Amino acid sequence: MQKIRNLIKTGNLSAEDLMHIVKLGADIAKTPEKYLDICHGKILGSLFFEPSTRTRLSFESAMLRLGGSVVTIPEPNVSSTTKGESLKDTIRTVGSYTDIIAMRHPHEGAGTLAAEVSPVPFINAGDGGHQHPTQTLTDLLTIYTSKGSLENHVIGLCGDLKFGRTVHSLVETMAKFKGNKFIFISPKELQIPDYLRLFLKENNLEYKEVESLDEVISELDILYMTRVQKERFFNEADYIRLKDSYILNMNKMEQAKKDMIVLHPLPRVNEIAEEVDNDPRAKYFNQVKNGMYVRMSLILHMLEER
Ligand code: NCD
Repeated sequence: MQKIRNLIKTGNLSAEDLMHIVKLGADIAKTPEKYLDICHGKILGSLFFEPSTRTRLSFESAMLRLGGSVVTIPEPNVSSTTKGESLKDTIRTVGSYTDIIAMRHPHEGAGTLAAEVSPVPFINAGDGGHQHPTQTLTDLLTIYTSKGSLENHVIGLCGDLKFGRTVHSLVETMAKFKGNKFIFISPKELQIPDYLRLFLKENNLEYKEVESLDEVISELDILYMTRVQKERFFNEADYIRLKDSYILNMNKMEQAKKDMIVLHPLPRVNEIAEEVDNDPRAKYFNQVKNGMYVRMSLILHMLEER
């Protein structure tokens, strides 16, 4: 496969490259001991300018499990950016100390800007409401290990499809694998952005947009739940009105296929009732673990330590 210098969005990778990363991630999950120490002497710069638990810790754990080290800033607002330093200068500086950088930033497009000046391989760990490529790799690994393939699935995406960056990344990426169809389930106000609708049309992908989960749950092979992105809302009243639009419970799960899987990038607020956690179709905690394995795979590819 081609060397990945910077990862801004998984939509830029070919199906073949994606499968390489996913399959290596699956192998790491099975035999992690084979990969200890491969990155000995290498340093990951972990820059999170927006709160994060899973993404940040999974990147850092991934590097540590490969035998590498991590440098980081303690909190989003404790760095020279608060002194007025530009993002470009911060990236040049961190890139002088490290071998690879993972960055999350609240602004759409910050990843692209940072990658342009980064002296070392650069990974976008989420830029505003735009893209979240490594969550998509996590989702792919979970779909691949639970369903055996990334093709021919009916994928329901439910909740905040407007601001949910994981949804945008996942749709553009699953579109690369043949036979996938999309059902978007959201209130009118939180429908997919126009650019994504255009993408679906231009690529002749089969999709529909509905407001009711009950109406379509029996058709789905994969149900991808998301939370309403409170921090990207401008209006508190709208948030309160929409936040409980969809709650997945066992009642709804009874209408679903016996082999449908439920994914959620987490954190969940109350979109999935806790009673669903014990259902074998609930895969969101498998996703958490896969997030670390697939980031190990990605780091190995980008550092060419194979
Ligand atoms: C997602 C994110 O940050 O975009 N979480 C994650 O990375 N696992 C989803 C979210 O915040 O709702």
